[in-house]
Amino acid sequence: MTTNGNGTKSDTILRIKDLKMYFPITRGIVFQRHVGDVKAVDSVTFDIKRGETLGLVGEIGCGKSTTGRAILQLYRPTAGSVEFEGTELTTLKGESLRKMRRNIQMIFQDPYASLNPRMTVGNIVGEPLEVHSILSGRARRDRVKELLEIVGLNPYFINRYPHEFSGGQRQRIGVARALAVQPNFIVCD
Ligand SMILES: Nc1ncnc2c1ncn2[C@@H]1O[C@H](COP(=O)(O)OP(=O)(O)OP(=O)(O)O)[C@@H](O)[C@H]1O
Ligand SMILES: [Mg+2]
Repeated sequence: MTTNGNGTKSDTILRIKDLKMYFPITRGIVFQRHVGDVKAVDSVTFDIKRGETLGLVGEIGCGKSTTGRAILQLYRPTAGSVEFEGTELTTLKGESLRKMRRNIQMIFQDPYASLNPRMTVGNIVGEPLEVHSILSGRARRDRVKELLEIVGLNPYFINRYPHEFSGGQRQRIGVARALAVQPNFIVCD
């Protein structure tokens, strides 16, 4: 257990409180009426400590992926709080939200939908390093090759496109991409 003067507080990396994510149901073609909501996530509360792994288990369509997306603010939660390393994310915008994303990454459930088919594996895995201005040029390429090796893919495949890989291999491309920026927290959907 680490302490930095705040006692046990510093051990909690993520604090989710009363998280709600509702998707509106609308009727009508021109004038869309709000007739109800899909309550995908309805008052979820949990904490995760640094170094801890939490598994979220539940039946198909119960809201696991939506919870993950709402943590990363890929969906803006309907209500509730997402506190990451002491910062409230639900009110974070623009540059500060972008900077925070360096520390939280997501490995998406569907490797077919989550990888851009027009980008090479090298560019997909290297993109976070570019976006967050971590490495460029030769150094970035070397790091991408290293990441491919870490996830068990041949670095020789760096110029290939997602369709040239199997489903399992694509899942590994997503893992390499999430690991690229050495995040403090990963949502493995
Ligand atoms: N963008 C969206 N718009 C409307 N409804 C959505 C959206 N995303 C998810 N839902 C609905 O929210 C509910 C939860 O979906 P979610 O993908 O979070 O489930 P899940 O627990 O990850 O399921 P699975 O085990 O199949 O991955 C489902 O009823 C789904 O139809
Ligand atoms: Mg899911």
